Amino acid sequence: MMLRPVTCLCGAEAAREFYRPGRMTRRGAMPATVVALLQDKGSVQALDGAAHRVRKAMFLDLMTARRLDAARRIFAGEWTAAADGWQGRTVALRDAVDDIMTRTALRWCGIAAPDREVAARRAELSAMVGAAGSIGPAHLRARLLRERSERWARGVIRHARQAGAVGATADAGVVARLALHVDADGSRMTEAAAAVELLNILRPILAAGRYVVFAAHALHVHRETIPFAAPDAEAMHRAFAQEVRRLYPFFPVIGGRVLQPFDWRGAHFDAGDWLLLDLYGTNRDPATWPAPETFRPERHLGADAAPEALVPQGGGDPVDGHRCPGEDLTVALTTEAIARLRTMTWQVPEQDLSLPRNRFPPWPRDGMRISVAAAGG
Ligand code: HEM
Repeated sequence: MMLRPVTCLCGAEAAREFYRPGRMTRRGAMPATVVALLQDKGSVQALDGAAHRVRKAMFLDLMTARRLDAARRIFAGEWTAAADGWQGRTVALRDAVDDIMTRTALRWCGIAAPDREVAARRAELSAMVGAAGSIGPAHLRARLLRERSERWARGVIRHARQAGAVGATADAGVVARLALHVDADGSRMTEAAAAVELLNILRPILAAGRYVVFAAHALHVHRETIPFAAPDAEAMHRAFAQEVRRLYPFFPVIGGRVLQPFDWRGAHFDAGDWLLLDLYGTNRDPATWPAPETFRPERHLGADAAPEALVPQGGGDPVDGHRCPGEDLTVALTTEAIARLRTMTWQVPEQDLSLPRNRFPPWPRDGMRISVAAAGG
């Protein structure tokens, strides 16, 4: 691929090997165009060893139950405010959800923003997510918007530092945690690196809006098969969110280059070798998932089914490896969205509900338009 040899791996066992602590690095493992719009240079994903562990701990510290509850409450408030205006209208969830997620992300991080700024951030963040897999004019436009976003984020970090923001205590806001975080080498991040990491929180929260739209899609497409009469609605909503994450397409693969040579299934991998783990295929691997193509939320009820094979956000241990630190937040927001969607009365007008197979992540082609009769509580 791209004139380099690459080995593609798929399945739970492959994910375990790929994610053995210290075995792989993300440096040089993804196309530069993707890296520039997503994680970017100097970010936690570009680090290895102790430097990675210390920076990663800061992200994981943000995912306490209290902060996840706060995120759900903020999202629910933003949803309700938006949904009040949907009554009696047809709205494209694609557009409406981007706005809700941008507002949720900014508020969760403790950043007050007037409507004009929300619109600017929304345009920047959604361009980064939407153009991550593209080249040409769409990519260049997203790069320009990203530069604008980084300038803004550097200002946010600078301001927090000048204001002598409260120490990096467990209760500090997200921006203060970033601004005052001390890396493994004993120094604070540069202003530019802290800004990149702030975008690494805001952008994926907007990206999680794809799962909100996919959840609406699944509620419609699979409505006959959903056992919503289950006694514990919250557990069922969460299981539904997990099945959405398992089956709907997002990032298809994750790349890594070998740091520590190893042998597996008769093959030898040397330092520098390039591997791709098939996230999409692992989520549908029949060796782990019975009837893998069937949308069946119940499989996630009770203990998480096969956590090592549910890898839309990476595999392995998030502390020691590169698994996404935002997984619990993504599940929490998607679960809340499903609860909100179920309190509304809505129908799906005639439209193209298919998901393009050449875009990552995709939108339903017509934006998942819904006609709302009652916005619910
Ligand atoms: C890493 C997916 C939401 C922050 C990753 C990785 C994937 C991913 C595939 C790479 C894993 C690897 O390199 O092995 C997603 C998806 C999301 C999502 C599909 C939702 C739609 C979030 C959220 C946050 C977040 C909500 C933070 C608030 C990060 C960070 C990393 C990461 C900082 C780098 C971790 C590291 O290198 O150690 N994500 N993510 N993500 N994600 Fe997410």
